Amino acid sequence: MHMLLTIALAGVPSKRPEEHVKGREVYDRSCWQCHGDDLSGDGPAAVALVGGVPDLRGRLDYVADRDRLIFLVLDGQGDMPAFRAEFDKHDARRVLLYMERLEDGTDKPSSHKPKAVDDTEGADDEAFEPTDLRPRPGPPELPSTPKPE
Ligand code: HEC
Repeated sequence: MHMLLTIALAGVPSKRPEEHVKGREVYDRSCWQCHGDDLSGDGPAAVALVGGVPDLRGRLDYVADRDRLIFLVLDGQGDMPAFRAEFDKHDARRVLLYMERLEDGTDKPSSHKPKAVDDTEGADDEAFEPTDLRPRPGPPELPSTPKPE
């Protein structure tokens, strides 16, 4: 742990936390619940949305669309909630910066939970899901119910 910390700090200029580090904090607080740790849209809250959450990997041009995306995050769109009350455009830009780094592999995803299982046979793991939370047969586009943490 200490060694990790030392290594992490060694690469960081001492003035203030880098933008993407702040962005990760925002993402891990407010976004992963829907978008998943890795932008794939498999977060635990995604199942509550009828339309699900889109897999954003490879879908966004963060540089070209930065202004549009900043306002999208602040104002919301469809089932995507607005975050204007929670943070400002600077944090919106930072979280997008982190998402861009997640996408290109510069940053590794956090791990809040085991990756959601697919809607396939064998998805029922007795140690993993209580009976009442087992995925029910339904429209194929609905992801199975992930384990609540
Ligand atoms: C309640 C679930 C939920 C949460 C929480 C959430 N999102 Fe989303 N997000 C969505 C959904 C659903 C969409 C698809 C919106 C649409 O176009 O209808 C989306 C779309 C997006 C898009 C892509 C928009 C596009 O151009 O297609 C970005 C970028 C995004 N979200 C960023 C974020 C960020 C940053 C956070 C955290 C600050 C966040 N989201 C939190 C549900 C969520």
